[in-house]
Amino acid sequence: MRDMLFKKPYFSDGEFCFNQDVVTVFDDMVSRSVPFYQELLVLMSHFVYDYFKSYNSVSIYDLGCSTGNFLKCLLNQNLNSFVRYHGIDSSSDMLSTLDSFQIDASIGQVSLIQHDLNNFISFNSMDVCLFNLVLQFIKPQNRLALIRNCYESLSPGGISFVVEKVVSPNNDIQSWFTKQYHSFKKQNGYSSEEIINKESALNNVLVPLSMEQNSKLLHDAGFKTVQPFFQWLNFFGILAIKER
Ligand SMILES: C[S@@+](CC[C@H](N)C(=O)[O-])C[C@H]1O[C@@H](n2cnc3c(N)ncnc32)[C@H](O)[C@@H]1O
Repeated sequence: MRDMLFKKPYFSDGEFCFNQDVVTVFDDMVSRSVPFYQELLVLMSHFVYDYFKSYNSVSIYDLGCSTGNFLKCLLNQNLNSFVRYHGIDSSSDMLSTLDSFQIDASIGQVSLIQHDLNNFISFNSMDVCLFNLVLQFIKPQNRLALIRNCYESLSPGGISFVVEKVVSPNNDIQSWFTKQYHSFKKQNGYSSEEIINKESALNNVLVPLSMEQNSKLLHDAGFKTVQPFFQWLNFFGILAIKER
């Protein structure tokens, strides 16, 4: 369904959250608001396919999994390995959409957990930990503990992807990036009013760090290999690998 939520000046719940209104339009919203959203999912799922092709089974935690678009992309790869997919999200509305998605029991199993990632959670051992556009919604003071918890739960050689909206420490560059990003959204059919209304609803809800701060979080959590693999203006992707 077409995202028209911000044609009205005020968001249904005041500040932005992932309620049923957002869930209903989520796939349209994210594909018109995040540059290369689908391509990023495909790229990350290709990497998982290649990297784990000799494994019998792969355990994946998709943190802030939303409607499960990464899982859907991954299943299109026809992985040889059995997929143990754990989707975690604080929004019950998101999880109920994903819950209706069926996968063949011979190729994998899906478990969904409703949880606020600001709080501690005990993970099983994992091979892949995905943070696709979610750390930015976790309180900054809680991000390191969460990434460290994931690092410690990753198997040797396990990988993490972090894709985030970031902010440039240079104000002039940041203004130019914002201007270009607004043009991108206008080309995708959003009006200036919708762009401004959404930004004000997201204020203090989406808290971006810089590219350097995100990389440092991964290093501080224990990762030795921290490799940027994507940037489009304020959108930034990192691959981190745990030592074998
Ligand atoms: C932009 S969406 C992520 C997109 C998704 N990873 C994908 O690949 O399509 C952000 C998601 O993070 C979830 N989220 C936000 N804050 C959270 C928190 N504190 N704990 C758990 N999930 C959270 C939201 O409910 C939402 O589904």
